[in-house]
Amino acid sequence: MAPSISFIDTDKLKTFVVDDGHGVKGLSELKIKPLPELFVQPIEKRLDMSKVVPHESIPVIDMSDPEDPEVMKLICDAAENWGFFQVVNHGVPIRVLDDVKDAAKRFFSLPADEKKKYLFKNNPTKNVRLVTSFIPEVDKVYEWKDYLSCFYVSDDEAFAFWPSVCRDQLLEYMKESEPLIKTLLKVLITRLDLSKLDETNEPFLMGSKRINLNYYPICPNPELTVGVGSHSDVSTLTILLQDETGGLYVRKLDSDNWVHVPPIKGSLTINIGDALQIMSNGRYKSIEHHVVANGLENRVSVPIFVNPRPSDVIGPLPQVIARGEKALYKHVLYSDYVKHFYRKPHNGKDTIDFAKV
Ligand code: OGA
Ligand code: NI
Repeated sequence: MAPSISFIDTDKLKTFVVDDGHGVKGLSELKIKPLPELFVQPIEKRLDMSKVVPHESIPVIDMSDPEDPEVMKLICDAAENWGFFQVVNHGVPIRVLDDVKDAAKRFFSLPADEKKKYLFKNNPTKNVRLVTSFIPEVDKVYEWKDYLSCFYVSDDEAFAFWPSVCRDQLLEYMKESEPLIKTLLKVLITRLDLSKLDETNEPFLMGSKRINLNYYPICPNPELTVGVGSHSDVSTLTILLQDETGGLYVRKLDSDNWVHVPPIKGSLTINIGDALQIMSNGRYKSIEHHVVANGLENRVSVPIFVNPRPSDVIGPLPQVIARGEKALYKHVLYSDYVKHFYRKPHNGKDTIDFAKV
């Protein structure tokens, strides 16, 4: 049981939440009200519900026959016009998706002393870390979220360092989603004049992967904070599994409006990340998204970030520039791009400025 303490003192609060492994989940379970000041976001960082367009959402694409030209067109159009879409009949077994959600809940239900072992400072590997908010060392105001982030190096490394209560399910989900990832990339690159996915382009399109377990516990004053502040992902593609709770909002292209991504049983949400926006020279859109906090239910989500390798230099693809387009982005070392993302709090789409010409 977590001790009952007063959190008037922000340092004590940070110690409890961040350093002692309780996370915001531990704080949520204390049922203190109101929400501590540390989590109260400035108005402009909260989601303005009056900007949410009802009865509209991102495309839902049936992937039963991904070679059907009509399906291929839907995928490329969604990547251009929405940057976000959901897929059904995607080939990843529903059982695998259910197991990974259970595994996420199992991990976050561990006692704080167990979870604490996965904090960056306590962990012998740099590839696994348990975090609260986005970057607690940098965030002035915290987000209402705990997450475990695992960078995949090899099965052996995962066996040695990933938490045993969720490791097998995470690895299975990653393995089972590989064909879907390849199918999506194969389809998307046709519009970029790359003839096929092969050893010349696979490394920088999908050469590394990171999987996160996100936990958004019940929040005493959800309207005052955020689950995740508005951001775009730095990936090539993100494959997101969400539970039935809802709360993910996506910006409509070139507008001030947002749409909700309704949970659809068995679906996966796909979004284009900054790396693919850069490689496609802006044709495919890495769109801002935002998760609200919830006053009634705990929520879990599990994104797989499909990325270039850290050592890759990314920029607009030569095939795209060969069509006579002016390059909108410079070439940047992918690990520098990612470092830039992790140096500052979430702030909409500003990460990509790092690569702008
Ligand atoms: C993320 C993210 C959305 C969600 O982890 O980058 O945007 O629904 N998650 O949890
Ligand atoms: Ni994201």
